[in-house]
Order: sequence, then structure tokens, then C-alpha cells
Amino acid sequence: MIRPRRSRATPALRRLAAQTRVSPAQLILPMFVADGIAEPKPIASMPGVVQHTRDSLRKAAEEAVRAGVGGLMLFGVPTAEHKDSTGSAGVDPDGILNRALADLRDDLGDATVLMADTCLDEFTDHGHCGVLGADGAGRTVVDNDATLAQYTAMALAQAAAGAHVVAPSGMMDGQVGAIRAALDSAGRDDVLILAYAVKYASAFYGPFREAVGSSLGVSGEGGGDRRTYQLDTANRREGLREARLDAEEGADFLMVKPAMSYLDIVREVADLSPVPVFAYQISGEYSMIVAAAERGWIDRDAAALESVTSIVRAGADSVLTYFAVELAPRLG
Ligand code: PBG
Repeated sequence: MIRPRRSRATPALRRLAAQTRVSPAQLILPMFVADGIAEPKPIASMPGVVQHTRDSLRKAAEEAVRAGVGGLMLFGVPTAEHKDSTGSAGVDPDGILNRALADLRDDLGDATVLMADTCLDEFTDHGHCGVLGADGAGRTVVDNDATLAQYTAMALAQAAAGAHVVAPSGMMDGQVGAIRAALDSAGRDDVLILAYAVKYASAFYGPFREAVGSSLGVSGEGGGDRRTYQLDTANRREGLREARLDAEEGADFLMVKPAMSYLDIVREVADLSPVPVFAYQISGEYSMIVAAAERGWIDRDAAALESVTSIVRAGADSVLTYFAVELAPRLG
């Protein structure tokens, strides 16, 4: 009889035999900072997560760094009057995201890795990740190349504000190459690019869109979904192609997003990538664990650790997760 159970007999044996270990340095905390609020504002669909003021962000960032997380990913939430059709508040050095980046870089210097979401959906009045235009057949679409011009301006502004890493997340063709070229010609070859390379059109983004106010369909233009730029859940080869392209265009890190419904893709990207692979446990993945735990249906702490461990086991070198700070003290 072969008895594999022997190595599971005691906690010490299980600890010794564990093949996947998650360390706090592998976890990246996504954070939201909003304009025009006086107090941190809870996000109803993400219990425990808030939109920060600039001040509360500084405190929370410091705490996260003290807890040992590997980096911070910042999202900006402008007021409605600062949103326009091209998302110019995302490029403006005085826009909420760029100001908050500057605050954190002042406070923290190089003590952590500051990352910025380089995407327009939080800043456009229509909620799309890019600039609208017409295609050859006259359809209203997100205009790829006009959007690239905004992304490069936004990446330069984020770099100037203090981001160590810019993270284009809009799934436009050529976005990594365009941003790399713009950074390099501005003398910012020190700034890294984390490519949201393999980003699927997911129902699990729902709570995030409440968090940043980027739900579609306000103006009705450009259609009511992001399926012309985000990937179809059904597609594996297309995801691997996007990963290869972004690596060739000069991405320093590749990301797969969401994580839990795409662990096969995480594994395959990990196998082919020449650079570290990140996975994003997104808002809906967080909220469904939290909601079930609130009802007493599952154990929050155990489910949080199990989910993140499984993402690392699948091949992710780092995980963006709203659980980062609560998990950190429980990890080796
Ligand atoms: C785009 C962006 C999104 C998320 C991160 N960057 C949303 C989207 O594509 O609609 C989602 C993050 C999450 O759900 O936690 N700026």
C-alpha cells in the first residue's frame, strides 16, 4: 500500500510539505482615491473597501507598506464635472490620480512600488476605456489610435507624478509599445510597464464599476459593453497571443485578469512569459467571498487565503488583491 496521507498527519508535516508559499511581498493592494469627498466613503458592493480622500489614502498606504505588501495600485475617481469625452482629468497633472501619486511618492519614496492604472474609464463621461470615434463603416466605436495618444499622455503624466509602474488596462492594440516609446523618448526609461495583457470581458467587474463610477450606458454612445476590446471568456489562444504581443512590445510584467475563473490562462501565460506574471483577483471575486462570509456561509479568512494561494499555485508571481493587507500578517 502506498500511503500519501502520511505527509498530511500533523500541522508541522503539512507545513514542511507545502509546495506553494505566499509571501506579503507578492501581494499588491489596489486602492481608490476620490475627488470631492471629505471623509473616506465606503463602497457598498465591496464591504471593507473605501474610496479614500487624499489624506486617508496617505495613511492607508503607509499602513499597507508597514504590513509588508509588495506594491500599491492606484485608481482615481474624479467628480462628475471633471469627466469629459476624452478623459482629460486622467492626463491633467492636477487630476485626482496624479495628485495622489505625487502625495504617495513624497511620503514613501522608493520604499514601495507605486503603480497607476493607465486607463480612461474612470475619467470619461461615457465610461469607456478609450476615446470614441467612428469606424470605416460609420459605427461608433472606441477609437484605438486616438486612445493610444491619450494613454501615452496619461502614462507620461503618471510617471511625472511619481508612479514607478504604469499599468495600461484598456486592451487597445499597441498600447504597450506606444507607451514604452513615449516614456523612452521623454527620458523615462526608468518607468516600468505592467501590461494588463490578458484581460477578459468579465461579469465580475461589477463592484469595481460602482467603486469608480465607470458603468457604461450613461450617454448610450459606443455600446453598452467592453466586448470590442476586452477578451471573450471562451478564448484561450487569443489570450496567449495578447500575452506574447505585450511581452514583445516591452512589457516588464504581464497580467492576467480576472484570476479565479482564468487559472488555466494564468498557468499557460506563466509557462510562456519571459517576465513576471501577475494576476488580479478582481472586485467581484473579493465581494462574493465577503458576501458569503457575511451570511456565515463560508469562512472569510480561510477562503481569502485559499483563493490567493490557488492563484499563486497556478503560476502567478504576484497577485493584486483587496485582501492584501488582511492576509499579510498571516503569511510567512
Ligand atoms: C479599467 C479597470 C477595471 C478594473 C481595473 N482596471 C475595470 C474594467 O475593465 O471595467 C477592474 C478591477 C476590479 O474589478 O477589481 N480601468
